Amino acid sequence: MDKFVIRSGNPLSGTVSISGSKNASLPILAATILSAGKCILKGIPALRDVDTLLQILKELGLKIERKENGDIWSEVSDERNSVARYELVKTMRASICILGPLLAKRKYAKVSLPGGCVIGVRPIDLHEKGLKLLGADISYKHGYLVANVKQLVGTDMYLGGTFGSTVTGTANILMASCLAKGRTVIENAACEPEVQDLALFLTKMGAKIKGIGTHRLEIEGVKKLTGATYTVIPDRIEAGTFIVAGALAGKNVTIKNCRLDHLSAIIDNLRQMGTEIEKISNTECRVRQAKHKRPIDITTLPYPGFPTDMQAQMMVLLALADGISIITERIYPDRFMHVAELNRMGARIRKEGATAVIEGRSKLWGAPVMASDLRASAALVLAGLVADGSTEIQRVYHIDRGYEQIEKKLQKLGANIKRVFDKMPTTADE
Ligand code: EPU
Repeated sequence: MDKFVIRSGNPLSGTVSISGSKNASLPILAATILSAGKCILKGIPALRDVDTLLQILKELGLKIERKENGDIWSEVSDERNSVARYELVKTMRASICILGPLLAKRKYAKVSLPGGCVIGVRPIDLHEKGLKLLGADISYKHGYLVANVKQLVGTDMYLGGTFGSTVTGTANILMASCLAKGRTVIENAACEPEVQDLALFLTKMGAKIKGIGTHRLEIEGVKKLTGATYTVIPDRIEAGTFIVAGALAGKNVTIKNCRLDHLSAIIDNLRQMGTEIEKISNTECRVRQAKHKRPIDITTLPYPGFPTDMQAQMMVLLALADGISIITERIYPDRFMHVAELNRMGARIRKEGATAVIEGRSKLWGAPVMASDLRASAALVLAGLVADGSTEIQRVYHIDRGYEQIEKKLQKLGANIKRVFDKMPTTADE
């Protein structure tokens, strides 16, 4: 398993270009199952999670090619297999986003249950509820969800649970209802930019969707969806991670190809801490570190609130603030695996239920640490950029799931980070 070795000391400066969004790419790729023609997708990042989904789609009979310019061409060529195997699904929970399109297009889907993961239990009851309301028959056998339907029929539904709306659940019901008979209304739909992007792609394929970007989606089912060409949005979490890098160690870091309108909560919180963020245009900003970082309190919430996927990275900055900060996790109450590792680097963070109390201090020190999930790994990389001495991060396959060449992008900004390759193949799960 590869590891990163980071030496602190270098101030970051220069320009970094943000890749396409992982969490928009996954459902958009899954949506090509619905298409009666060829889809050309631009900006899909080269990531381990994307590769996993492409492998699943190929097994489901899609002809997929990645062209030299990075575009992905996808076309359904054989609809006989509608089974997504455990061996692939277990490596990426988001694989569940094939369920809605398979059921809508092929009337049958057998998808392995993804199982738990380090950030929480992550049930799929809301996906099931929505599909059942559209008329699907759903059962569970030997670790697989089996869904059948003669014809999905549109209906009104409320799609919310204890933790609010569901991103992938909304994506699944949205995709299924595009080919359902009649009108579907999804109340409490997730309105994350990634869901909006999926809805815009489906619209390009011929779907009739009203309310994009709101918590109420209204879908008028159509008989057929066509091929389409589409460019995915930039990854707001990758952008946020580099903005935090700039806030920690930036002399002058320019972040380009981002969407600042998707980053409001992140930018607002960083500015409250004293970070200088200069907006150049909606797709470009410049970040400089703050000499004194003010402590702040953050609660993670569904969009447009502060994203859970940036919680770990912000914690690194707060660990170096001039006072006590509090982070409350409202999406995944157990998503605090990074706390123990950051404490090993000298941070003073106490976890109380779904809350972390962070006592800021003047410095962190390098240490050997272990990546546990995608965003926790990103936090450790950020901490390594400013921790005294050398930091060694094991299990960086977690970070390869969701950040395209993070070490190369950081090296370009002047960071002293290198990947130490291991010849052993990685088979670990999410
Ligand atoms: N939930 C339920 N029942 C459901 C579905 C969700 O109770 O049927 C709960 C979850 O347990 C959680 C909350 O609802 O407490 C929100 O979960 P959601 O379904 O919105 O999450 P997701 O769709 O599984 C996506 C992202 C995550 C991101 C969350 C929240 C993708 C592929 N994944 O997950 O991204 O944290 O939304 O914004 O889009 C990441 O990229 O590192 C990542 C984990």
